[in-house]
Amino acid sequence: MLVIVMRYSRTSSPLQYYSTTAVFFCELFKLMVSLYIFLRTEFTSFQPNYFHSLSLLVFSGDSWKMIIPAFLYTIQNNLQYQAVSLLDPATFQVSYQLKILTTAIFSVLMLKKYISPMKWLSLVLLTVGIALVQLQSSNPSTANSKKVGTIKKFEGLMAVGMACVLSGLSGVYFELVLKSTKQSLWLRNVQLSFYSLIPATIGIIFTDGSKILQNGFFYGYTYWTLGAILCQSVGGLIVAVVVKYADNILKGFATSISIILSCVLSVFIFDFQITSMFILGTIVVIYSTYLYGLPNKTSLETSEVRV
Ligand code: C5P
Repeated sequence: MLVIVMRYSRTSSPLQYYSTTAVFFCELFKLMVSLYIFLRTEFTSFQPNYFHSLSLLVFSGDSWKMIIPAFLYTIQNNLQYQAVSLLDPATFQVSYQLKILTTAIFSVLMLKKYISPMKWLSLVLLTVGIALVQLQSSNPSTANSKKVGTIKKFEGLMAVGMACVLSGLSGVYFELVLKSTKQSLWLRNVQLSFYSLIPATIGIIFTDGSKILQNGFFYGYTYWTLGAILCQSVGGLIVAVVVKYADNILKGFATSISIILSCVLSVFIFDFQITSMFILGTIVVIYSTYLYGLPNKTSLETSEVRV
């Protein structure tokens, strides 16, 4: 839903809203929701110095550890808007699967996870599948529009590539901090969203500051913009819960279902032409995620021995 709604919000209106403001509102929304859940579940006692002790709790100790993912995620979320504006939803969605590969690499490096040769093979297949999907051409009619289209597509793919690296890095870093310290998920989320408001504000000022001064903060906003903000916020909160109760690599599998949905919806909404190469690439991507999901032979054997 996020990709479709985000894409529609960028293309359906002649006036383009400033995506940096949408990223800001997304963090603000997540901050309010996380704070609400935190207050309802973990900070229930009313004291005379309520706000003082609340802020002490939120900003004390190692809360600074959330500054790093806050910056990385904010850049990633901005790149996602760029990529979705330049690429069709299906291409974006499939290329964004490369984040499974980057997440696996960072999980090995930072979490010291073991990835079996079969899993690495599935990750290579994933990359091949994505490459196949990219081979489909959009066939623009004139030479000039073809050139513009290629440049846009290249920029879009660069943005996706960077977003994949940041997704892997920030996701694994968040998982590392969450699972190696005592602070709860919702407290971490409050810290993450709060600190994210800083880079989000810097992004607004330096990217769109002068245009916002001219046209206003809500220039180009439609209901679709609100929809994109809502989808990104709810998606982010779900990611947090998934990382807590499962892990970042498992999160990647869920997105293969979203590829199929994006493709089908893109055909109806955006006139997306599905080529045989696209279908082949998508099948390889989905098969590779299935392969990755198979249990490790060695870990099965070990658990059988343990039983
Ligand atoms: O594409 P990917 O799964 O890496 O996207 C992660 C998304 O989840 C980002 O938009 C990030 O801001 C959000 N997130 C969050 N809270 C967390 C972890 C991630 O809102 N604790």
